[in-house]
Amino acid sequence: MSPDNAAIEYLGQTPTADEFERLFRLSGWTEAMDISAYRLAETLPHAWYSVCARRDGEIVGTGMVLGDGVLHALIVDVIVMPEMRGHGIGTEIMKRLIAHCHEERILQVQLFSARGKRGFYEKLGFVARPDDGPGMELAELG
Ligand SMILES: CC(C)(COP(=O)(O)OP(=O)(O)OC[C@H]1O[C@@H](n2cnc3c(N)ncnc32)[C@H](O)[C@@H]1OP(=O)(O)O)[C@@H](O)C(=O)NCCC(=O)NCCS
Repeated sequence: MSPDNAAIEYLGQTPTADEFERLFRLSGWTEAMDISAYRLAETLPHAWYSVCARRDGEIVGTGMVLGDGVLHALIVDVIVMPEMRGHGIGTEIMKRLIAHCHEERILQVQLFSARGKRGFYEKLGFVARPDDGPGMELAELG
């Protein structure tokens, strides 16, 4: 599949379970995650807002926002098909996710940058949280 930006449409919709699994397995940062297709599909109804990029109806990228609808929005699962990367599709998905957050007047739009992806998000206006107010996560579950 060769990129042709004019032929790509961006829709405010959640990917199907099959589409999401395909993209997720190609993301490159999830190989270590042992997660079933069933569990992956269970994430989708929890999206507050999603965007799908499609070419001739075929999914080429997606991105999702989790949120409480007022205070917090967390952008997750921004993934573009490997052969379509580097042509602005990820940027367009992000712009649409951010625009929706602005339209809904969300106070804080946040994300976790995967290792090596910081430059991508900085180009979109994101800045790292300060050292005395960092993003944090549980070291281990259970
Ligand atoms: C990250 C990802 C979504 C970017 O999508 P993309 O369509 O390739 O990105 P774009 O073509 O819109 O790139 C926009 C800009 O960011 C830059 N960029 C892309 N990836 C980058 C990276 N890892 N580090 C620094 N800059 C990056 C591009 O060079 C481009 O710069 P330019 O505008 O000066 O040309 C895509 O590489 C991907 O799916 N990666 C695997 C999944 C992943 O890691 N997602 C992020 C999870 S936090």
